[in-house]
Formats: sequence, structure tokens, C-alpha cells
Amino acid sequence: MKTRNDRWDLLIQNARVATMDPSVDAPYGLIEAGLVGISGRQIVFVGNENDLPVAMAECATAQLDLGGQFLFPGFIDCHTHLVFAGHRAHEFELRLQGASYEQIARAGGGIVSTVQNTRAVSEAALLAASLPRAEALAAEGVSTLEIKSGYGLDLDSERKMLRVARQIGEALSLTVRTTYLGLHALPPEYRERRAEYVDLAVDHWLPTLHGEGLVDAVDAFMEHIAFTRDETARLFEQAERLGLPVKLHADQLSDGGGAALVATHRGLSADHIEYTSPEAVAAMAAAGTVAVLLPGSFYCLRETRLPPIDQFRTMRVPMAVSTDLNPGTSPLRSSLHAANQACTLFRLTPEEALQGITRHAATALGLAHAKGQIQVGMDADLVAYDISHPAELCYWLGAHQPTRRWTLGQPR
Ligand code: NIG
Ligand code: FE
Repeated sequence: MKTRNDRWDLLIQNARVATMDPSVDAPYGLIEAGLVGISGRQIVFVGNENDLPVAMAECATAQLDLGGQFLFPGFIDCHTHLVFAGHRAHEFELRLQGASYEQIARAGGGIVSTVQNTRAVSEAALLAASLPRAEALAAEGVSTLEIKSGYGLDLDSERKMLRVARQIGEALSLTVRTTYLGLHALPPEYRERRAEYVDLAVDHWLPTLHGEGLVDAVDAFMEHIAFTRDETARLFEQAERLGLPVKLHADQLSDGGGAALVATHRGLSADHIEYTSPEAVAAMAAAGTVAVLLPGSFYCLRETRLPPIDQFRTMRVPMAVSTDLNPGTSPLRSSLHAANQACTLFRLTPEEALQGITRHAATALGLAHAKGQIQVGMDADLVAYDISHPAELCYWLGAHQPTRRWTLGQPR
């Protein structure tokens, strides 16, 4: 019998619980007329009234009737560059006049122009510029997000970005996973000293920033306009020595063997992956590497080469979906819009797209044990929507608003 002291903190009743749990035998892992119990930061009960250990009224100190609304696990945006200063609306204009992303990058625009803006501002100003972007994601129901460095490209500016990423998590009560992206672009001052830059970024800055507790994972941009396979491999070997998981901007503009490389290192994810080969898809499957689909940059760059979605399905490579929120290729501040694009542009089913911003995104961050499903023992990150079908989350464009959300058991 439950005593007053071991009552749960909250019992959510009368919910259509889209658990996203594959062991629940229904689309979206749906439990009708469901109940979810929360104690502290965790989910302690998921099921129906008959499964409760004691009478409903005795279970929890507080009860909430959701009136038949849908309840989802908090969304997860597993690939963002949302810490930066300034914007690149002018490049948007240039691209509309016919310039390509590569041409703009080679002419000194692109990533390097955001680096200049980001270096120039104080930590406080960078936080003030970045926070509203994270708030926009959170307002829709994102409870966990990944934030990369890579617009600093010197030690102090990379540190500033990663510190701001941590501060965003604290300010908004979100779970933030930071990723070191020192090999994002070659800064102009190293144009003639490429090897020196890679040495510094790999051998000095990464261990230093990791030592300061600022790095949860390591990423690079492996592409003919960015870093080579050898340079990326060196970075990954250093990450391995430090015990850090790796991921990669892979095969976005050409098949450079990036996804295959990340699989060799049993990386968390290969991201973009439009040009990934069938052999590399098989390697990802064997390594447990998640395919992170970024339809926002595909859309903004008017790409035409689709990622090998059917091969991911056949080989059972989990597909995550993310915004890639960044000022150049994907100024997209909505996970649900990314889910819509994954359906419309890549022909994911709405269920696949929602798995992509919940369960599979959790795996892509190494958080599959704690996030991305409504399951006993997982974190109580939840979001409620007043809709009548889960596919509505992918179907409506814009102005999505949850009725309630919780992160780590607390209402937000
Ligand atoms: O994920 N591909 C490299 N990095 C980003 C773009 C960054 C930028 O253009 O500022 C991406 O698309
Ligand atoms: Fe990216």
C-alpha cells in the first residue's frame, strides 16, 4: 500500500499517450485513456487505470486531467548551431540571384562571416542573441537540444560559444548537449597554415575545452570545401583518447566517405548524408550509427540529391530529424517544421518523422536510456498537444503550440 510519503508528485490522467515506445504495439506507441505518473525528475508509471498499484486518488499528491489531449515525450533537436551572432540574410539574397553556397563560402562569406560576428561579441551578448532561438524551439516542446561550437575557431571564442550553450540549458531548464566543432571551417588567418590550425584545434583546444567540462561530443565538417578525411580521422582519434563520442557532417555535398568513417569510429551519428553510399549505410547499421536527416538545409540550398532513405529503412538504420538551426544553410527555428519537411521532401511517414525528433534523436545524442520515450525510469520530459491525430504535428505548418510541457518533472 502506498503511504502518503511514497505518493508520486503528479498523476496525469485521461491522456492519449504517444509513448513512442516500440514495445507498445500500436502506431506511435499510443496508449488510449492513458495515465502517466511522475516522481521527482522521472516517469514512474505509464499505463491504464487497471494497471495502477492503488486507487487513482491515492497514487499522487497532485492529479491533472488532460481531457483526452495527446501527450508526447519532449522533443529532441539533436543537431543545431544556434549559438552565433548576426545573420546571413544577405547571402539568402545572393543565393536567390544564383550564387551557390560553395561560391559564397569560397568568396569569404558563409561560415567565416558568422565567425567574424561571433568573435566580435561578448559572452553576454552572444547569450542574448542565441537565447531566443532556443526559446522558440522550447516553446514548441523541445526539452533536449544539441548545440555545436564552430563559429569561434579560436580557443577563446570556441570556449565562449560552449559556455553560452551551457548557459542556455540552465536559463531555459533544457537538457543541452554540447559538441565541439573546431573543424568547421578554416579561419582566414590560417589560410596559409592549414596544418598548424588542425594541430591546434585537435591537439590543444579540444583537450583544453574538454578539461573545462564544456564538451560532450565531437563533430567536424568533412567536405571538399572544409576538412579532409585524414584531418577528420585525426580529430576522431583524439576524441577517442579523451573518451568523447563522435559524429560528423558527412556526405552533404559529395560522397567523401564521411558516413563510413564515422561508422568506423562507432560514432553516434552521421548527419546530412545526402550522398552516402550503400556500403556506408551498411557500415552505419553495423556500428549503430544514427542517420541524422537535416531537411532544412536541403530545402534552403535547393538540393536535389535525396538521402538514401529506403536503404536506411531496409538496413534498419535509425533516422533522426533535426533543424540544423544555423544562420547559413538552415535558419529554421522549429523542430516540427523540420518534421514536416522530412515528410514532404524525404517522404518519411509522420510516425517516422516523430520518431526522428524523439526516440532516434535521443539515440543520436547517446541519451536513449533517459530521453525520447514515455517509459518508466525515463526523464519526465513531456509535452501535451490539443490535437486529434499525432500526424497533425507534422501536418500543420507554423504556430504549433503545446498546451503544457514539463522538463525533468517540472511544469514550464
Ligand atoms: O550544417 N555544413 C556545415 N555546417 C552547417 C552550415 C553552417 C553555416 O553555413 O553557417 C550545416 O549546414
Ligand atoms: Fe550542421
